[in-house]
Amino acid sequence: MTTTLSIRRPDDWHLHLRDGAILSAVLPETARHFARAIIMPNLDPPILTGEQAVAYRERIRAALAKGSDFEPLMTLYLTENTDPNEVARAKRNGEIFALKLYPANATTNSASGVRDFSKIDAVLETMSEAGIPLCVHGEVTDDDVDIFDREAVFIDRVLDPIRRRHPELKVTLEHITTQTAVDYVNAATTKLAASITVHHLVINRNDLLASGIRPHYYCLPIAKREEHRLALRKAATAGASKFFLGTDSAPHFDDGKEHPCGCAGCFTATNALAILAQVFEQEDALDKLEFFTSRNGPSFYGLSPNQERITLTRADAVAYPRKIDTQEGQITVFNPNMPLYWHID
Ligand code: DOR
Ligand code: ZN
Repeated sequence: MTTTLSIRRPDDWHLHLRDGAILSAVLPETARHFARAIIMPNLDPPILTGEQAVAYRERIRAALAKGSDFEPLMTLYLTENTDPNEVARAKRNGEIFALKLYPANATTNSASGVRDFSKIDAVLETMSEAGIPLCVHGEVTDDDVDIFDREAVFIDRVLDPIRRRHPELKVTLEHITTQTAVDYVNAATTKLAASITVHHLVINRNDLLASGIRPHYYCLPIAKREEHRLALRKAATAGASKFFLGTDSAPHFDDGKEHPCGCAGCFTATNALAILAQVFEQEDALDKLEFFTSRNGPSFYGLSPNQERITLTRADAVAYPRKIDTQEGQITVFNPNMPLYWHID
């Protein structure tokens, strides 16, 4: 049995850090092991301009431990009013890495998202020309579409038409949850890739709903049937270049999660790598872990993989905190419901 594993230092291609007290409390959980992360712009108010992205990046850097070389890759929140010239300017100046598309009201702080997708064509054209990636929350929000079908319907009604109109646009379909998404991404050109979270590799909708409602397993896109979880595990552990890690680690205070109208999000930053190593071991695919965490993402985004390495060692069960304390409340760490044995140096 493999008991030590050396991999390139990983990156997280989809991360929520929030701001203020939460930012300071959760940032070390990611910066401890990850070299870079794409930082989501769904703050309240959202990050709409290059200037706001730079100011947010400064707040993140200020919250880092001394000497940390963690690199936040900033995104703009795409709205129907986003100015293509501002996007091109911000990219040229190194202020932003990507844009994030939220369909309006799809998830946390997405009210300013897009309702009419034809209104973003000019921005998408500019992004295609400038090589700026589009990170996509892939769910429709129509009341008549069942929540468990929202990803598949989005691919059909929104994503595929966008990709036909903008074939050169680099698109990441984020936090995919279905076999449909895996198949769609596999069948597409190299301009399309997908990120997969840790929690969607671990839980299905029964874990969320079948033995009491588990608010800390509620996230969006919502966990689907077991067959979909298995499809995600297969995609993630195959080593194929189109799939990479985006944890979507999304901190909310416990009182917001354990609430009659609870917030969506699983906080996985603390134990993400230990869980992933366990999952890849279960799938007999530890040799593919580095592709998923450290190589496929940079390759898709045209960046160099990290040169530094981390070592994972299999030993006694890993101890990690159940909750992260902040000045304003506690955040529950995702419970994978299995012992974890992989320690990260
Ligand atoms: O579960 C989620 N939480 N999904 C998202 O898309 C957003 C995130 C958040 O910001 O809380
Ligand atoms: Zn997210």
